[in-house]
Amino acid sequence: MKNKKVLVVGSGGRCHAIVDALARSEQVEKIYCAPGNAGIAAQAECVKIGVEDVETLVEFARRNAIDLTVVGPEAALAVGIVDSFTEEGLRIFGPTKAAAQIESSKEFAKRLMAKYDIPTAGYEAFEEYEAAWEYVKNRPLPAVIKYDGLAAGKGVVVAESYEEADEALKDMLLDASFGKGRVVVEDFLAGPEFSFMCVVSGEKVYPLAMAQDHKRAYDGDKGANTGGMGAYSPVPCVTEEVRAYALEKIMIPTAKAMVAEGVPFVGVLYGGLILTDEGAKVIEFNARFGDPETEVVLPRLKSDIYDLFDAAIDGRDCATEWSDEALLGVVLASKGYPGSYAKGVVIEGLEKVESAVYHMGTAEKEGKVVTAGGRVLMVVGRGATLGDAREMALRDIAQIECDGLFHRSDIGHKVLN
Ligand code: AMP
Ligand code: GLY
Repeated sequence: MKNKKVLVVGSGGRCHAIVDALARSEQVEKIYCAPGNAGIAAQAECVKIGVEDVETLVEFARRNAIDLTVVGPEAALAVGIVDSFTEEGLRIFGPTKAAAQIESSKEFAKRLMAKYDIPTAGYEAFEEYEAAWEYVKNRPLPAVIKYDGLAAGKGVVVAESYEEADEALKDMLLDASFGKGRVVVEDFLAGPEFSFMCVVSGEKVYPLAMAQDHKRAYDGDKGANTGGMGAYSPVPCVTEEVRAYALEKIMIPTAKAMVAEGVPFVGVLYGGLILTDEGAKVIEFNARFGDPETEVVLPRLKSDIYDLFDAAIDGRDCATEWSDEALLGVVLASKGYPGSYAKGVVIEGLEKVESAVYHMGTAEKEGKVVTAGGRVLMVVGRGATLGDAREMALRDIAQIECDGLFHRSDIGHKVLN
């Protein structure tokens, strides 16, 4: 019966894709999104409540008899939105604050993996600059240096030289702009990366389709690390064998480990994995849907996403069905991103686009769509092959007129060229 009311918390492309998937559900009658954005507004009623304003969100959910709340961003998880909703008897899909530590604390994740033999890069954690530098300068390059705390995917430096490594350590441990923190120095893992997102409910794991993200800002994987400049699904290098290994040696043992540690995980467990010569290994876990991966994964889900969220909250079994279609999405980002950039630049031509367009950071101003964030739009093409999907996305991007945007034209290059 189409009678469920859902609240999606968040405003980016990932939330747009979640809203889009919920809009296809046979059960969902009404979708609210807090705060949403100009694109999401076409499919959901956007309400002006910030993602960390938990008290107001709880009150909204109660007043509007929301059947299910779905959380997009880590910021909301980190302030304990799931704990608060659950205490109030409201149904919410996402991990508790304690379980979300698998993302918010690199050290928590690393300790868990070491204790339960989950394959990952070796590491050392440091709080003092001198000790960290002493360690790094005596090790081979590249040096992988991670700030321990939420840094929206930007607190990672893969340094090719000792100068670069030293600068990163100084930034993270001596510069107040990062806050008082710690760093984790990791072994460098070589191989293709892929994102394996699974809906998890305690020990139960419901795998989603594979995706690959492109983290660097510019073509040829040059430039700074970003939140992600494009993605595609499926991922050819992830064979059935690789997937089975990642599921059985990484995702299921991690779900079980969280239960054993007394912090059962309910929500999306995102495994950021590298396929090394010794098999898949974890580079990071996230406690939420990936962005931009979600925009190429959820459109391939043929079964009802409401069922999946609902089943996960109750720990019920739930089968998923996926389309064979290939999806490839390209992010249009504000010039200057991931550094500083202008906002409020008018975007035109969106009506000419045949690809799916997910709004990542847009707003409406005087009836026009304008840029309102670092990553602005994700244009997702589809087709029988990834090549077809990329052609469609790039063709459609050429229709979009906006002075303030740039994009990568080589998304999928590792499998297409
Ligand atoms: P993260 O935020 O931990 O996903 O790291 C951002 C990016 O840095 C990853 O997508 C990888 O490309 C790279 N990276 C992180 N850790 C490692 C590692 N141990 N070995 C090689 N590359 C890494
Ligand atoms: N695309 C990487 C992330 O969501 O963290």
